[in-house]
Amino acid sequence: MPTNKFQILKNPFCSPFGGNREERTGGDTLKIKALQTVKLCYKKDYSTRKRIHMFPKIKTDNLIIRPFVKSDLIAFTKYRALPSVAKFQSWSNYTYKDALALYEKMNQVPFGTEGNWFQLAIEKKDSPSLAGDLAIHFIDPDQVEVGFTIAPEFQKKSIAFEALMALLEYCFNKLNKHRVIAITDTRNLASCRLLEKVGMRKEGHFIENRYFKGAWGNEFLFAILRSEWNHADSA
Ligand SMILES: CC(C)(COP(=O)(O)OP(=O)(O)OC[C@H]1O[C@@H](n2cnc3c(N)ncnc32)[C@H](O)[C@@H]1OP(=O)(O)O)[C@@H](O)C(=O)NCCC(=O)NCCS
Repeated sequence: MPTNKFQILKNPFCSPFGGNREERTGGDTLKIKALQTVKLCYKKDYSTRKRIHMFPKIKTDNLIIRPFVKSDLIAFTKYRALPSVAKFQSWSNYTYKDALALYEKMNQVPFGTEGNWFQLAIEKKDSPSLAGDLAIHFIDPDQVEVGFTIAPEFQKKSIAFEALMALLEYCFNKLNKHRVIAITDTRNLASCRLLEKVGMRKEGHFIENRYFKGAWGNEFLFAILRSEWNHADSA
């Protein structure tokens, strides 16, 4: 199992709703309140897997993984609209309106709410624009599903690998999740290779389980347990 050093920053202005507290409220007067809220959030975050209200900024060697802000949506729309990016994804002809609807839906409930997907921005430290995104779906108190997309100009530079490693570490050792899964079209070679590379097991092969873009498609289910992740780390 490859290792990936990164740190989780306790960003006092990171909103529980995925936005940026400073951006949403403005002004220094709220900083003290924000810090108090953060203390509360972190206490809950680390003490129980059931109460997560915010996503902290995570720094890896080359990346920053952070909550989405509204200004990310232009770049997000641009790469999601590309046929090469959409090929194995649920959408076609992605528009800014779609991105805005997703952003607003995501901000309606606190980060970590079961049954919901949350998008996380990936930014390169040396290039402060949106390089791609991670997605996390809180299935139940113990399990999450992850997804990932990298803008074509940033692909094949190990960005997805570095970002996904950081997300898995966060899921297992901060959120204390038991199992992380990912589902991908069997033809999506980049996705399959990435999932194998981070140490996920291919544990399911669904045959024509999904009617997708005009035809029945096949999918692989990849998964990894916390025990496997931590064992691989110490091996
Ligand atoms: C899947 C995706 C996120 C990979 O991102 P990436 O940043 O290019 O991946 P990395 O550079 O970290 O590469 C990870 C591994 O995948 C391999 N890989 C990347 N693109 C590949 C491709 N097109 N075909 C085969 N392998 C590929 C890399 O070579 C690397 O393996 P290696 O180290 O053994 O050589 C990216 O291709 C993407 O955004 N695709 C479109 C969206 C999508 O399909 N998302 C997944 C939905 S399930």
